[in-house]
Amino acid sequence: MPDTRRDLHSYSHPEKVRTATLDLELDVLFDQRVIQGVATHRIERMPNAAGAPLVLDTRGLTIHSVETAPASGAFQPAKFTLGPSDAILGAPLSIELPPDAVLVRVRYTTGPNATALQWLEPRQTAGGKHPFLFTQSQAIHARSWIPLQDSPGVRVTYTATVRTPKGLRAVMANSDPAAEASGEYRFALSRPIPAYLFALAAGDLAFRPVGKRCGVYAEPSVVERAAKEFEDTEKMLEAAERLYGEYRWGRYDVLVLPPSFPFGGMENPTLTFATPTILAGDKSLVSLVAHELAHSWSGNLVTNATWRDFWLNEGFTVYVERRILEEVYGKPRAAMEAVLGRRKLADEVKRLPAPDQILHIDLSGRDPDDGVSDIPYEKGALLLYTLEAAFGRRDFDAFVHAYFERFAFQSITTATFEDYLRRELFPRNAQAAAAIPLDEWINEPGIPESAFVPKSDALDSVEAAAKKWTAGAPASTLVTRGWSTHEWLHFLQSLPRELAVARMKELDQAFHFTNSGNSEILSEWLLAATRNHYGPADRRTEEFLTSQGRRKFLKPLYEDLARTPEGKQRALAIYAKARPTYHPIAVATIDALLK
Ligand code: BES
Ligand code: ZN
Repeated sequence: MPDTRRDLHSYSHPEKVRTATLDLELDVLFDQRVIQGVATHRIERMPNAAGAPLVLDTRGLTIHSVETAPASGAFQPAKFTLGPSDAILGAPLSIELPPDAVLVRVRYTTGPNATALQWLEPRQTAGGKHPFLFTQSQAIHARSWIPLQDSPGVRVTYTATVRTPKGLRAVMANSDPAAEASGEYRFALSRPIPAYLFALAAGDLAFRPVGKRCGVYAEPSVVERAAKEFEDTEKMLEAAERLYGEYRWGRYDVLVLPPSFPFGGMENPTLTFATPTILAGDKSLVSLVAHELAHSWSGNLVTNATWRDFWLNEGFTVYVERRILEEVYGKPRAAMEAVLGRRKLADEVKRLPAPDQILHIDLSGRDPDDGVSDIPYEKGALLLYTLEAAFGRRDFDAFVHAYFERFAFQSITTATFEDYLRRELFPRNAQAAAAIPLDEWINEPGIPESAFVPKSDALDSVEAAAKKWTAGAPASTLVTRGWSTHEWLHFLQSLPRELAVARMKELDQAFHFTNSGNSEILSEWLLAATRNHYGPADRRTEEFLTSQGRRKFLKPLYEDLARTPEGKQRALAIYAKARPTYHPIAVATIDALLK
C-alpha cells in the first residue's frame, strides 16, 4: 500500500527538516520579466534527522548562491546540488546543513517560463498605461517563483520586502490599504500558510473600502464598479463567523485582476484574487466571493495535506459558500446554486473516466492540476449535504464548526477526516450513520444512490418553461419576468442540445442572449450557438475568446469549436490572436486541446 500521507508532489522531506518562517526580498523587474529574489528560511530539524539536508522545490529557477548561518551568526557559503528537472515536479534543491545552521539563504532569479507568473503588457490592462504582474501558486506553481517546500503539508509564516518600479503598487497578504506608493512595500503574515497560498501582484492599483475589515483593490477605472459589486462582502464575513467561528486572518480584501486571470478566484490569504468577469453589475456572480471567503476556514485554516485530499478543501468550501449565500441572500438563492451544482456534477460524471470520479483520487505521476474537476467541488459538497440531511443541521453545524477548530492551522488527510467524522458525528445517530456508505463516497466512482437531492422551486418553474418552449410554445409567451442569472442559466441548460438555427434566432430575439453582459449567461449561450452553428453569434464568440482568459470559459468553447473542420479553422485563427494574451496555465490547456 502506498503511504497516502506522503505528498508525491514535493521533493521536500518535512518529516526531517522543515521551514518554519520565510523572509523574502523580491525585486520585480518588469523589463526583464523576472523576479530577483532572496529567500531566507528559518528551519526546524526533527529529532531523528541529524545530517539530513534541507530539500526545497524549484522549477526553472536559477540559483545564484546558497548560504547558511547559526541563530546569531554570519552567513557562510553552503554546499548544494540542484537535481535533474522533472516536467511536472521541477528540480530538488538539496542543501547541506552544518549542525548549528538555523538560517538558509538562497539568492535566485525566476525563469522565463515561470508558470506561476503572468507578466502583462500595458495593453492587457484596463488602464492601458502600466504593466501588471500577478502570481498563481496553486497547486504546485509556487516553486516557480520561490524556492521552498512546496507541499500543502508544510506551513510557514512570512515577512517580505517587495520592490517595484515607481507607480506600481505591490500587494501580498496583509497589505496595508493606506501604504504609500513608494516603490518598496513590506508585508508580514503571522499565521502559518502552505506554499500554494503565497501570492503577489503589482500594477496600477487603487483601493476602496467596502466595510470595516473588507475592501477592494483594482485598477483605478475598475475599482468603483468592483466596490459596488462586492458591497456585501462584510455581511458575508459576518455570516461565516456566525456559522463557523471567528475569522482568524485580520483583513479580507478582494483584488480584481485584469481579464487574463485564468481562474474565477483564488483564496490567497487576506486577499482573494478574482477575475473581472464576475463584475456583472447586479451582484449575481458574487457566489465566487462567498466561495473564496469560505476558504478562510476550509482550506486556509484546515488544509489538504496532499493534493489527493484536495476535495477536503473544495468540497467543504462549496458547502460553506452556499451556507453563506443562504445567510446573506436567503434559502431560494442557495437552493438554486445547489441545483445548478448538482447538474454540473451529473454532466461531469458522464464525461470523466471512472478513476477521476473518485474523491480520494490517485494522482501519482500526474500534475495535481489534473485533479481539478467538479468531483472534488460538487461531489465533495454533496457528501456534506447528505451528512447534513442525515444528522440534522444542528448537529452537523456543530460538527463542522468543531472540525475547523480542531484542525485549525493544520494540514490533514482524507483518513484523518474520516476518522474524525466516525468519532465525532456518527455516534450522534447510529441509524443515520449506518445509512451513509462512506467508503463508497470516498473511494468509488459515481454518486451513491442515497445522495441528497437538492431542490429549488424557482428552477422547477424554469424547467417547466424550457419544456414548454421545447414543445413549440413561442419564446414570447414564456413568463420570465424577474428571472435571476441563475434562472436564465438553468433555462439555457435545460434546452435540447440540438436546436435549429431558426429556434436559436427566436430565443435570441426574445431574450438578447448574444448581447448579454453577464459572462456566465454569455458563455452558456455561445456554447449553444457554436453547437448549433448559429452564425449571428460568431463575432461575439470571437470577442469573448479574445477579451478574457478565464480557463473555465475558454476550454469548453474551444472544444466545441474544434468539433467540426470549419470550426477548428476558426478556433485556430482566433487562438493565434488570443494566445499571447492568455496566462501560461490557460495556454497549456488550449495548446493541448488544439494541437
Ligand atoms: N482554489 C481554487 C482555484 C484553484 C484550484 C486554482 C486548483 C488552482 C488549482 C478556487 O478557490 C476556486 O475554486 N475557484 C473557482 C471558483 C469557485 C467559485 C468554484 C474557479 O476559479 O473557477
Ligand atoms: Zn475553491
